[in-house]
Amino acid sequence: MSTLSNKRIIVGITGGIAAYKSAEIVRRLQDHGAEVRVVMTPSAEEFIRPLTLQALSGHPVHTGLLDPDAEAGMGHIELARWADLLLIAPATADFIASMAQGRGNSLLNAVYLATPALVAVAPAMNQGMWSHPATCDNMQLLQQRDVRVFGPDSGSQACGDVGYGRMQQPETIVEQVAHCFSNSQLSGVKVVITAGPTREAIDPVRYISNHSSGKMGYALATAAIEAGADVTLISGPVSLNPPSRCKVIHVTSAAEMHQAAMAACDNAQVFIASAAVADYRPVSVAQQKIKKSADVMTLELEKNPDIVSSVAQHFNNLYVVGFAAETQDVERYARDKLERKKLDAIVANDVSRADVGFNSDDNEAWLITAETSQVLSKRSKTQLARDIIASVASAIGK
Ligand code: C5P
Repeated sequence: MSTLSNKRIIVGITGGIAAYKSAEIVRRLQDHGAEVRVVMTPSAEEFIRPLTLQALSGHPVHTGLLDPDAEAGMGHIELARWADLLLIAPATADFIASMAQGRGNSLLNAVYLATPALVAVAPAMNQGMWSHPATCDNMQLLQQRDVRVFGPDSGSQACGDVGYGRMQQPETIVEQVAHCFSNSQLSGVKVVITAGPTREAIDPVRYISNHSSGKMGYALATAAIEAGADVTLISGPVSLNPPSRCKVIHVTSAAEMHQAAMAACDNAQVFIASAAVADYRPVSVAQQKIKKSADVMTLELEKNPDIVSSVAQHFNNLYVVGFAAETQDVERYARDKLERKKLDAIVANDVSRADVGFNSDDNEAWLITAETSQVLSKRSKTQLARDIIASVASAIGK
């Protein structure tokens, strides 16, 4: 179950007797590679102590909406954006009702309302409460809003009743969490992705490059793999571990990336150019280290090939997605780039902002095609990547 590696999951615990099982859920999620943070409602604290969850998760447990210490560490909105998935386990009848009403009266409610992440609930309550029409209506509403529902199981209950309402076992819940991250939107589709910066050598020890971390491209590769695609990731030099189950081609310069992209796109259906390719390279690369002498040194540069343009021009049936990093007039410049480079879609973001984009874990972007323009509000790069992949899948009719 490697799909949970590097996934960021908030486990929200509400006040039910099944809360003791949440500790096991946290442990198992971590065993499968997930990063976990815990949010507890005040009534959950009556059933299990935050200290237990803090020791297991390795992070302070978030309990109150107005807790200055917790807010100083990671504020609730930041926490909501951080997550790839919010799992509420156990979810009591009362908490489910408050979700259905859209209430923001507890930290967990506020996180639920603010998060762009997937949301799942593992209900746990008395069988009579579970089958009550009010709970049934609330559950129906949550499902319409795309909340995943895990269980509940049937069996004997803490109160002595027998019936549906027992929270599922931790291992079953964790399996379903993993399932949330694997879908088959791009099953069998060959996707080529460029990522990271390129380095243009000046001499054997120096180069021209940029601050691209490669995070967006790697997140796209992971999202495409989760969607069942056959992914080739062409990566410039970055310090990230590539996702498993993907072919990785490591390159250094734009010329190498160009060559690798043209070869890999030969039988591909989708090309996503998220690399920050250096626009220029030194006309000649010194064979030996250039010695320091004159006060002023002039470096002659020539243009690198525009990889995404040449791929788009050469492969007519390929769905090509480009990226645009702008500092002003983002949408207008991006649309211009879309047309000029003959792209099918462009993901544009504002790199003048410190909280998103380059080197950040979050991003906010416009997703622009010839006919549409959609704002993808600030979210984790993982989540943004999933949204981009979902849009590519629907554009190519998958
Ligand atoms: O022209 P600009 O660099 O702003 O365009 C950005 C888009 O073009 C990105 O998708 C980037 O990966 C791609 N690109 C490229 N080859 C270049 C320059 C940019 O593929 N030489």
